[in-house]
Amino acid sequence: MNYKQQNIPFPLYHLSETDSTNTFLKNLCDRQKVGEFTTVFTDYQRQGRGQAGNSWESERDKNLMFSYVFYPNFCEAHHQFYLSQIVSLAVKDTLSEYAEGFSIKWPNDIYWYDKKISGILIENELYGNFIDRCMPGIGININQTQFVSDAPNPVSLAQITGRTHTPSDILIQVLLKTMDYYVIFRRNEKDYIVKRYFESLYRSNGYYPYADREGEFMARIVDVLPQGTLILCDQKGKQRAYNFKEVKYLGIARIE
Ligand code: BTN
Repeated sequence: MNYKQQNIPFPLYHLSETDSTNTFLKNLCDRQKVGEFTTVFTDYQRQGRGQAGNSWESERDKNLMFSYVFYPNFCEAHHQFYLSQIVSLAVKDTLSEYAEGFSIKWPNDIYWYDKKISGILIENELYGNFIDRCMPGIGININQTQFVSDAPNPVSLAQITGRTHTPSDILIQVLLKTMDYYVIFRRNEKDYIVKRYFESLYRSNGYYPYADREGEFMARIVDVLPQGTLILCDQKGKQRAYNFKEVKYLGIARIE
């Protein structure tokens, strides 16, 4: 059954090609009223955008690239990291139905063991101190088996499971799970989200190598603060706090 034959509880649009689903949906939302959880997916992006101004490259017709919009206008701007947590949990939980070994690399990359399968770019619009519009854009490597871009450690679902998958099936599962987590967030059950996120973290146990502007060190993850700050504890017992891009994950050597 393809996605058009399924009874899905959100508007779903397919573009064979676009510059970026985030850009397309943002322009649409700026022009007209767009219903909650309206989703756009494409088979090819000419200018896929990643975090921190990077690009997101994806072979035509192989992978899943989509963006959706919702309106958490009850959510204060300093709580926006909860939105990032529910979006990444929905992707990680969906992929976990296909294989073991998925985790969330802080803040919101999805890893299979030490390889990246999915990236998430969330663009929020604020109204005063509240989130007016949240627009996550998600790329998941589904059927691509050769990677030519300089992404250091990519992997696809097909490489993991040994079979091909229908990208729109995965999309629908991610959206349904996002909606479930959103209900939990609306009920203000933040502790549940924080617990699920923390136990889903890549490198949640043991010491691993990291680097910050002062050099390399071994540390373990001890916490992620509500605003998204990562707290590491090094081997001398010193706690170190990092915001996005302030710390680099090195190597994969692990000591207990
Ligand atoms: C990253 O890991 O840097 C985030 C990558 C996000 C890529 C997705 S693909 C669909 C959506 N449209 C974009 O232009 N970017 C996101």
